[in-house]
Amino acid sequence: MNFDQVINRSEYPSFKWRKEALQEHFGNADALPFWVADMDFPAPPAVVESLRRRVEHGVFGYEYKTDGYFEALLGWYANRHGWQIDQSHIESCPSVLNAVSILINQHSEKGDGIIIQPPVFFEFRQVVRANGRRIIKNPLLFQDGYYQIDFDDLETKAANPKNKLLILCNPHNPVGRVWTQEELTQIGDICQRHNLLIIADEIHGDIAYPPHHYTPMASISDELAQITFSCLSPAKTFNIAGMVDAITVIPNEERRAQFHDFAHRYQINKINVFASAAIETAYKHSGPWLDDLLAYLQSNVDFIRAYLQENIPQVSLVEPEGTYLVWLNFAGLEMDAKDLEKFLAQKAGIALNPGYWFGREGAGFARMNIACPRSILEEALSRLARAVAER
Ligand SMILES: Cc1ncc(COP(=O)(O)O)c(C=O)c1O
Repeated sequence: MNFDQVINRSEYPSFKWRKEALQEHFGNADALPFWVADMDFPAPPAVVESLRRRVEHGVFGYEYKTDGYFEALLGWYANRHGWQIDQSHIESCPSVLNAVSILINQHSEKGDGIIIQPPVFFEFRQVVRANGRRIIKNPLLFQDGYYQIDFDDLETKAANPKNKLLILCNPHNPVGRVWTQEELTQIGDICQRHNLLIIADEIHGDIAYPPHHYTPMASISDELAQITFSCLSPAKTFNIAGMVDAITVIPNEERRAQFHDFAHRYQINKINVFASAAIETAYKHSGPWLDDLLAYLQSNVDFIRAYLQENIPQVSLVEPEGTYLVWLNFAGLEMDAKDLEKFLAQKAGIALNPGYWFGREGAGFARMNIACPRSILEEALSRLARAVAER
């Protein structure tokens, strides 16, 4: 697979490259986009081929998820991540955020607290607020260029009976930590002690850079699995977010039945024929493609690190352990959050998510999506170097 190939995405309505969206969010319709979390690479060739075959069949009526779909999914998690998922624990809905929103609704009341760990994926905050729940922050600690969980603070927040759920992001978007088994166990112990349920958003689980490896929260113990909702999806891994299909693993029988009833009541348990074809093929045949992708992403990380050190020492890379979203520290430029946002989008002409979008803890940082051909990354960094030099 040639990840260096540049593909023009403006032929289709890509949200990331949409000029109106770049104008609206960055005040610069021509900014090079590194914001939305999808990749500028094609899906694995086997996936594209299976879709081609599916299109040629020409009949796209109602379908069901086949044994082949589930075998492929279960095989992937067993072989790649050592997690044996019980097929009967799986529930489906269109997207991970869809599942997160349903779970918040089902397991808390209006006014209850939902714990998040900022800086974190901004949609968590929006989904919690949109459901009339309160955000309870357990901010990550940032020391010596490394993010960690503040367990004492988490224990305090978990002990408040008004706080009902923790939304865990593993690996963590945007700081790139792949939480270790020890960290996850400690989180799990706290949640068990205080009857806090865990929504484990593991959408980035497959993107971990060796020697780091993703540990599914629910794989740690049966007790933890009972209080965990695992939100999984092939969307990031194979760049098929537009296919729209997510997997929620709920080992607790009663809570699973609740989710199932909701999906039935609102009729969101339909499947998309293209998603089915793509996902089964991806999980069955695209492991080697993912290994190549990870090597390419790692080389993009190496490139950024070296480029910054050599040319823009005021900006530093927070070393990612996973995800294709890198977290850049602009503290050396000594700008306030709004000035930095303007500087990047309008002076440098690059659309990175300003760090404060992820909570005030992210001020002074920005998130950059590096899942693009190297030449585009080179262009972005040279634009940044030029803008910094001209300051
Ligand atoms: C942590 C995280 N969760 C969920 C999503 C969105 O997933 P979906 O499109 O399935 O709702 C993203 C996308 O960027 C993400 O980074």
